[in-house]
Amino acid sequence: MAIEVKHVSFTYSPKTPNAYEALKDVSTCINDGDYLTIVGQTGSGKSTLVQMLNGLTMPTSGAIFVDEQDTKIWCKKTKTTRLLRKKVGLVFQFPEYQLFEETILKDVAFGLINYGMKKEQAYEKAKEYILKVGLNESYFTKSPFELSGGEKRKVAIAGILALEPEILILDEPTAGLDPKSKEDLLNLITQLHDEGKTIALVTHNMSIVRKYANHVILIEKGKAFFDGTPDEFFVNDEVCKIIEVPEVIEFARKLKVKGIDIDVNKATSVDSLVEQIKLWRAKDE
Ligand SMILES: Nc1ncnc2c1ncn2[C@@H]1O[C@H](COP(=O)(O)OP(=O)(O)OP(=O)(O)O)[C@@H](O)[C@H]1O
Ligand SMILES: [Mg+2]
Repeated sequence: MAIEVKHVSFTYSPKTPNAYEALKDVSTCINDGDYLTIVGQTGSGKSTLVQMLNGLTMPTSGAIFVDEQDTKIWCKKTKTTRLLRKKVGLVFQFPEYQLFEETILKDVAFGLINYGMKKEQAYEKAKEYILKVGLNESYFTKSPFELSGGEKRKVAIAGILALEPEILILDEPTAGLDPKSKEDLLNLITQLHDEGKTIALVTHNMSIVRKYANHVILIEKGKAFFDGTPDEFFVNDEVCKIIEVPEVIEFARKLKVKGIDIDVNKATSVDSLVEQIKLWRAKDE
């Protein structure tokens, strides 16, 4: 098991009049090889949760175990804190705000040099990952401030990927990207998952849940409202009251209610839904 979240609660500004309990008794497991999606309405606590997974913040109560060790223990010493941050790479929501170096190459190499890699080697690895996120060589010497929002996002992601974390956490990585960049990034994440990385991705996009995930958690008002597979997720009536279900699934659900015997989970596209309706009609005739 990669990460175990055990009865985690988190309160912002505790013991002040502004105290706010953003997470309430959340428990879940992220298993090795998972492609987890964390979904939920705005303000439900998703970012609060993922920032605890690499020890950036600590639960107010409960605990998080990474490779069976409590993040509080990992973060007791600087050396092991750094090990944890390398093991669990976290791409923040809007990571582009954190770019600061003069050139993209320097920015992506920064983390590697910080981890003790020799400059020359760090630059080589940085180049590899800049190309991997879909930017070409002409970007190496550009300033991060010359880039578009989407390009900056890619650079920020390259900086985390270059550290080659075992578990990659991404907080709404595709938000605000154009369709092509979105697809490229999702393909890259799939490739990383196929190569063996554990993925945890925060998203509002239910098509991502349907298409890529094997595990989904729905956070609702700070609580884990649902924790299971996408197949269970999209047929759960209570879940479907909270989330925006992809149109084709919503349509399949309505047909089922009307007595058409189809498998909602197999309705992943219009074509697959049409196939099911044809089969149902053939059976009925
Ligand atoms: N630094 C903070 N101080 C006080 N309250 C905060 C702080 N950060 C977040 N909150 C509150 O905690 C709750 C959860 O916030 P969080 O950022 O985890 O939500 P989220 O699910 O990631 O939302 P979104 O989908 O908009 O990114 C929100 O109500 C938010 O206002
Ligand atoms: Mg958030």
